[in-house]
Amino acid sequence: MALKNFKFNVIESNKFARVGVIETHRGNIQTPAFMPVGTQATVKACLIDDVIKTGSEIILSNTYHLMIRPGVDRIISAGGLHKFMNCKLPILTDSGGFQVMSLSKLNKVDREKGAIFNSHVDGKKFILSPEESIRVQKGLDSDIVMIMDECPKKTTDYKVINKSMELSIYWAERSKIAFGLNPHKALFGIIQGGLFKDLRTKSLNNLIKIGFDGYAIGGLAVGESQNEMFSVLDDLKNIMPDDKPRYLMGVGTPADILGAVKRGVDMFDCVMPTRSGRTGLAFTWNGRVNIKNNKYKNDNEPLDPNCSNLNLNKYSKNYINHLFNTNEILGSTLLTLHNINFYQELMSSIRENIKKGTFDKFHDEYIDKL
Ligand code: GUN
Repeated sequence: MALKNFKFNVIESNKFARVGVIETHRGNIQTPAFMPVGTQATVKACLIDDVIKTGSEIILSNTYHLMIRPGVDRIISAGGLHKFMNCKLPILTDSGGFQVMSLSKLNKVDREKGAIFNSHVDGKKFILSPEESIRVQKGLDSDIVMIMDECPKKTTDYKVINKSMELSIYWAERSKIAFGLNPHKALFGIIQGGLFKDLRTKSLNNLIKIGFDGYAIGGLAVGESQNEMFSVLDDLKNIMPDDKPRYLMGVGTPADILGAVKRGVDMFDCVMPTRSGRTGLAFTWNGRVNIKNNKYKNDNEPLDPNCSNLNLNKYSKNYINHLFNTNEILGSTLLTLHNINFYQELMSSIRENIKKGTFDKFHDEYIDKL
């Protein structure tokens, strides 16, 4: 039987905010969607079936980490990343462009050869070209493949950002050729251009000419203010194609997500709920809770009494505080699942409010609270 093709449809809009469905052969994804991060073929500290119970419909994984360890050949021999990690959800893989810049000892970025770097694990030399990134992502059997891009470190230097944006366009063209025809998979372009409206517009227009199944906004959440990020989204919201998913990479806090949805974004990923979960920070509808605080020692209420999901409401703040004080790994598991569950509740509330036409009110009620 032929595999189902990748498709996206907008179902309802509320000004720029929109509800849609991405169809993949591994299942549908309701948008706006949040993708928990599973960098090393694991959403850290969680069983994948528990991640699914939070309402997550897609996860993100990373080319950079998996090509270093265990290496793509080992994942191919396991039958692909889904089989390797026992994940039936669709998986989006980042291309490695961003992680090379932020994690590795980067030696050189060569326009033709790609990024030449030493691994942050053991110093081994790797060369990541657009073709190699796509080859690895295909080997992983990724459902949504990202183009290889260059994301410059935070800088306001117009010339540096322009050069990097131009390089990303060249690599986008090569990524598209290497991806070939794959109607049941998707290839997303990544808009670069820093905080400069003309560079962002040029980047997007060039990507549209090449033609992608979705458009990501990269180069944000690298140290700029929330207002600066929103201003880039304000510039892009009128010119991004309406009929393709829009993905804001590496973002963000619940308030960032609310503001980005208001500006037309459909997809998000961020380490925040998982990383914070492992360090004792919980997201709740009343704001953030540092569970290690002494005041929770006598608090026998759950973090969220309304959360019957995964039985998380059976665990008190008193107990989770004890788990963190004694470095018990169950504390990380409980708080990570709590946070992913909260993010998915936020996304489903966003979708419901867009459908009801009450998104602006919902946005205004929570933007300063979360
Ligand atoms: N993750 C967060 N930002 C970026 C970006 O600009 N490019 C890529 N490839 N991944 C990202």
